[in-house]
Amino acid sequence: METMQGLTRTHRCGDITEGDIGKTVTVMGWTQVYRNLGGVIFVDLRDRSGLVQVVFNVDRNKEIFEKADTIRNEYVLAVVGEVVRRDEETVNDKLPTGRLEIRATELRILAKSETPPIFIEENSNVREEVRLKYRYLDLRRPDMQRNMILRHRVAKLARDYFDDNGFLEIETPILNKSTPEGARDYLVPSRVHPGSFYALPQSPQLYKQLLMVSGMDRYIQIAKCFRDEDLRADRQPEFTQIDLEMSFVDCEDVMTLNEGFIQKVFKEVLGREIQTPFPRLTYQEAMDRFGSDKPDTRFGMELTDLSDIVKGCGFKVFAGAIEAGGSVRAINCKGGDAKLSRRDLDGLVDFVKIYKAKGLAWITVAENELKSPITKFLTQEEIDAILSRMDAQVGDIIMLVADKDTIVYDALGALRLEFAKRFELIEKDTFDLLWVTEFPQFEYSEEEKRLVAKHHPFTAPMDEDADLLETDPARVRAKAYDLVMNGNEVGGGSIRINTPEMQERMLRALGFSDEDAWERFGFLMEAFKYGAPPHGGMAYGLDRLVMLLAGEESIRDVIAFPKVKDASEPMSGAPGEVDAKQLRELSIKVVE
Ligand code: AMO
Ligand code: AMP
Repeated sequence: METMQGLTRTHRCGDITEGDIGKTVTVMGWTQVYRNLGGVIFVDLRDRSGLVQVVFNVDRNKEIFEKADTIRNEYVLAVVGEVVRRDEETVNDKLPTGRLEIRATELRILAKSETPPIFIEENSNVREEVRLKYRYLDLRRPDMQRNMILRHRVAKLARDYFDDNGFLEIETPILNKSTPEGARDYLVPSRVHPGSFYALPQSPQLYKQLLMVSGMDRYIQIAKCFRDEDLRADRQPEFTQIDLEMSFVDCEDVMTLNEGFIQKVFKEVLGREIQTPFPRLTYQEAMDRFGSDKPDTRFGMELTDLSDIVKGCGFKVFAGAIEAGGSVRAINCKGGDAKLSRRDLDGLVDFVKIYKAKGLAWITVAENELKSPITKFLTQEEIDAILSRMDAQVGDIIMLVADKDTIVYDALGALRLEFAKRFELIEKDTFDLLWVTEFPQFEYSEEEKRLVAKHHPFTAPMDEDADLLETDPARVRAKAYDLVMNGNEVGGGSIRINTPEMQERMLRALGFSDEDAWERFGFLMEAFKYGAPPHGGMAYGLDRLVMLLAGEESIRDVIAFPKVKDASEPMSGAPGEVDAKQLRELSIKVVE
């Protein structure tokens, strides 16, 4: 291994084994614990691989012992010594090196440390702000080191797997022309062109398509993407994709090849065998059954449509919702009567209001009666039909929402997940992988009051729906697919449009004038004039994938230097002000 100041490191701390007993080794690392028991000093030395115990004995070597007595936590040491078996009473079975220790014959203090503001230990419960301010110390913790190693493994597997399958790794620009992935752009001012801006890529979407036009055939990149959107546990303004594109393919080709990748990741990173092909659910089926386009199918409690039963019933809220084109759907909270108090039920009404539902109706099936605020509005036949369709047993609570479909799906989909969390319906350590297919091409944006692309404007419509583009765009389904893991969207992609005519039709359907379309995407449509192969691809959120594999709940825990809620970075303090000269050069004036 490496040689430094005349010392050659022979082992990482955690790599020393019984086979090394009797050997003289040299290790280097940080002081995890320091104990002076009178004539003997014990130091647990830590590096990326783990810990090993070092012993300094006053009788064996007084000079080294006295030097060792100045060691404090997090001092960086180099130790030369002999590996010996520990005395039976000092064996620590929790450590892989717990039956061994190093009897020091040489000690160098390579760097001192002040008392660190956070303990370097597993599962630290230090506040996240403090962890992020001292991220370099936080990253010393074994769980964070494991996460970084896992992330490296996944990135390496991606490169290897896709290389084995004929993909070329090609870099695409970071200073881009703005292209829409649906989020806000980060802009970079141009010094040379005052008033003009580059946009940081929201993804390499257009470039990877152009690489297919170039005949590169198969492309992959571990790509940094930038989106100025509000942060959540699974969202960062700057994140990483495993981004890929393939020529001459259909949906199935992309999905099958990627199942192979995920299978390999599970095998090599987690040592788990997973079955392919993964289940496929159409978007409509996912929404109807789970109220979500990223369904967690590790537990039941599926949605059931009751609209036909309560259509025209005496409860105005239900009848009215259906008349207005919406629906009434329900989930059966099995055994809910014993678990949910009246107050809990009131709380759930507030819970569904977060999802814009106007209310939540329930029917509790008690021993000899039904308890419900709405049964009085329904006929016996209607009630019987509801209970029978919901397979209601004594002790169950049927929860119903009436509204526009989107609200019903959102509210019941969220309620279902809430029950899974509260009642611990999901078995720990299980993985659930599936594809959601046949996404709608467009969705209605309340904010912009128009149809916007659900995936992006370069996604091809399903052949059988293409003719609806001009007549009934809301019904057009796309050749798009998302990979869902444990209720998280870990990846998504599509087959792309590859003719200028279809690209123009799509942009027109999205409300772009032909002029605007050419101004913004002319370079793509121009390229399509010269022979673009049929192509498609997808991108994984690497951070999300690693988060799930690591069993973490936030992508911040698998990113070395993440940003926090207000998009700042607590350690460096970015973003920061710049001086007036820089602004002048960029022709930028800051308006308060
Ligand atoms: P999409 O926008 O679906 O597709 O992004 C692909 C995947 O990236 C992850 N992701 C994020 N992860 C962390 N923070 C974010 N802010 C964030 N946004 C997205 C998700 C998502 O599934 N160019 C297309 C892909 C393609 O069509 O080939 C694209 O970017 O896991
Ligand atoms: P109200 O007649 O408004 O007092 O409502 C009677 C019951 O129906 C209450 O339990 C409400 O929470 C519930 N409710 C109201 N609106 C809806 C709705 N859109 N969907 C389901 N239940 C509702």
